[in-house]
Amino acid sequence: MSKGKRVGIVGAGNVGATVAYSLAMLGTCHEIILRDNKIEVAKGKALDMSQAAAAVRSHTVVTVAEDMSQLTDCDVVVVTAGSPRLPGMSRDDLLMINAKITKEVIHGIAKYSPNAIIIMVSNPLDAMTYVALKESGFDRSRVIGMAGILDSSRMAAFIQEKLGYGGGQIRASVMGGHGDDMVPLPRYSTVAGVPLSDVLTDDEINEIVHRTRHGGAEIVGYLKTGSAYYAPAKSTAIMVEAILKDTKQIHPCAVYLDGEYGYNDVVSGVPVMLGANGAEKIIEVTLDDKEKDMFKNSCDSVQELIDSLNNNKFFEGE
Ligand code: LAC
Repeated sequence: MSKGKRVGIVGAGNVGATVAYSLAMLGTCHEIILRDNKIEVAKGKALDMSQAAAAVRSHTVVTVAEDMSQLTDCDVVVVTAGSPRLPGMSRDDLLMINAKITKEVIHGIAKYSPNAIIIMVSNPLDAMTYVALKESGFDRSRVIGMAGILDSSRMAAFIQEKLGYGGGQIRASVMGGHGDDMVPLPRYSTVAGVPLSDVLTDDEINEIVHRTRHGGAEIVGYLKTGSAYYAPAKSTAIMVEAILKDTKQIHPCAVYLDGEYGYNDVVSGVPVMLGANGAEKIIEVTLDDKEKDMFKNSCDSVQELIDSLNNNKFFEGE
């Protein structure tokens, strides 16, 4: 019997558990393995989700790894572990705390699921994807950050809200890092193929761009004790499905740039073709001067975080 698809999820908090639930409902994977320090809570969630899967006649089972050594032989591992972003805390405040957690988790994945494709979700997203790449030693096609699907979904929802129509027909495009200087691209956003500039004024588009950039913080402001998880989790599940089903679809994802867009040794969000081998191709979109400037600002911000890790000797002594 061939082995079914196995997906590991490290961190079974709101985002991780909701990724697991989405995947269990879709039924593509055979087993979803939750790994969390709160083992009892993870066990409760796993049972609950396996039962939900049975309710929809999905064959997916959800189990728990009591430590990383039980997270074996996964096709994909999603990493959501980390301290959440609390009100008043920037994504960057999380840098050192989450870099250390990521390092430890990634060493475990590299050891016990050495053929996995890693999807990073922890913030600050682009820097954590960089840490995961360096610490795993994996090829860059196998370490991918989730954020572009989330940010473009937010932009699409804001466009729909502003227009009052077009739901389900909106293609919004966001590139760059998952930070306040992400790069929403109205020029590459359409409603049923109609350019945004034909249906919205410049002021309306600027308002949508601003709201997209601060979309995460807007939700933190309401939730008070945590950050968004439905859209982040669904965006992650879309990536997992594209990989497991080898769809070769293009999605905006955070990947290590090695000359693309003129950048090296930095992670940023760009359109990527996802398939069974991970980020199989990076697409280079033509940007105008203003868009290039915004992309540069965004890459510079990610570079500052990487510099800060280097200045703290984070990558030394391994
Ligand atoms: C968000 C935070 C968690 O965008 O990065 O929702």
